[in-house]
Amino acid sequence: MPAIPNSRIRRLRTWVPGKRSFELIGVDENQNQITLIDLASNDYLDLARHPLLIEAARQTLETDGVGSGGSRFITGSRNIHQRLEAKLAQWLDRKIVLIYPSGFQANLAAVLALTDRHTPVICDRLIHHSLLVGVKASGAKLIRYKHNNLPELERLLKKSRQSNPQKQPLVITETLFSMEGTTAPIKEISKLCIKYDSKLLIDEAHAFGVMGPEGRGESFGLKEPISIISGTFGKAFGSGGAFLATDKKIGENLIQSCGAFRYTTALAPPLCASALAALNLIESNPCWGRELQEKSIALRDRLSQVGWQRPAGEGPIISIILGSDELTMDYQKRLEAQGLLTVAIRPPTVPEGQSRLRVVIRRNTPVQAFERLIEVLKNK
Ligand SMILES: Cc1ncc(COP(=O)(O)O)c(C=O)c1O
Repeated sequence: MPAIPNSRIRRLRTWVPGKRSFELIGVDENQNQITLIDLASNDYLDLARHPLLIEAARQTLETDGVGSGGSRFITGSRNIHQRLEAKLAQWLDRKIVLIYPSGFQANLAAVLALTDRHTPVICDRLIHHSLLVGVKASGAKLIRYKHNNLPELERLLKKSRQSNPQKQPLVITETLFSMEGTTAPIKEISKLCIKYDSKLLIDEAHAFGVMGPEGRGESFGLKEPISIISGTFGKAFGSGGAFLATDKKIGENLIQSCGAFRYTTALAPPLCASALAALNLIESNPCWGRELQEKSIALRDRLSQVGWQRPAGEGPIISIILGSDELTMDYQKRLEAQGLLTVAIRPPTVPEGQSRLRVVIRRNTPVQAFERLIEVLKNK
């Protein structure tokens, strides 16, 4: 249990009507309405309210309805699912892409497809909960290495191959880590996987759209030994739903035998249409990711200039580690009083003693928000 209990689901915040998507209406302790600049959502490219995404969803709503009405093998498949899968496969240069209703479900499916109960699964210590649930469900043996620690990963791979030469291990990492803001050294990890003949599952949930060449993720261009890449439409794509990208053999296997793909209602068509519109926008704006990274790096520099340890990483998630729950909650309140919404992230989401403010920078975050943030944070 965290020292200060996690609040129930935070009071509902609505968009400020007619305003840009970074403004939200909250409610303060006296039940007064306050307008907050959103420095917390994962809508990194500000696409959730982009007119093209809304229009794509609206048109598909009219032609295909709100829900798909069935699983992909019964009545749920629409043209829009196939178009989105084909476009993603081409964008990522992968053979097969399959859409899932959520990233959580896609991750479960990916782990289950690559493991049985004898598989040694070697994971970065900070991977997302959904991947850990997948490992648990598979009954496989979970081995964890320190965050982004290549020597430790190599030691564990070596040990695993020596003690169990028959069994191919699976390595799992995220690329852009959701609570740290750090990026995995994916090229080096994949080299180790080749050296020790291991499978590799990569979660690019936070990276697609913003990291890697033209926003195609950190794994873009790497082939061997990547087995599956998972992505979600719920973050930079501004929509909802998720996908797995893989080779022909694993893809066919997922189609034939993956329960999390076969036995679930197909993703709502309007969400697919918005995801496809987002993909088209990302493709035609290849510098968006780089521009966002430049802003994120500049804010990290400013934080270190006003006396904070420079937050690790270079992507749009900036993790300001404060340590204690109390201090983190205090800073969250101080920022909220200045009209900035950040979220205090506390155990069990992060390890004990590592509570932090998670600040998210988005494509259109107003510069005044950074200035206000620095004003509050410079008074330690
Ligand atoms: C790293 C990571 N993977 C997967 C997911 C799950 O994605 P979704 O929100 O689409 O279920 C999340 C979402 O929080 C995430 O942060």
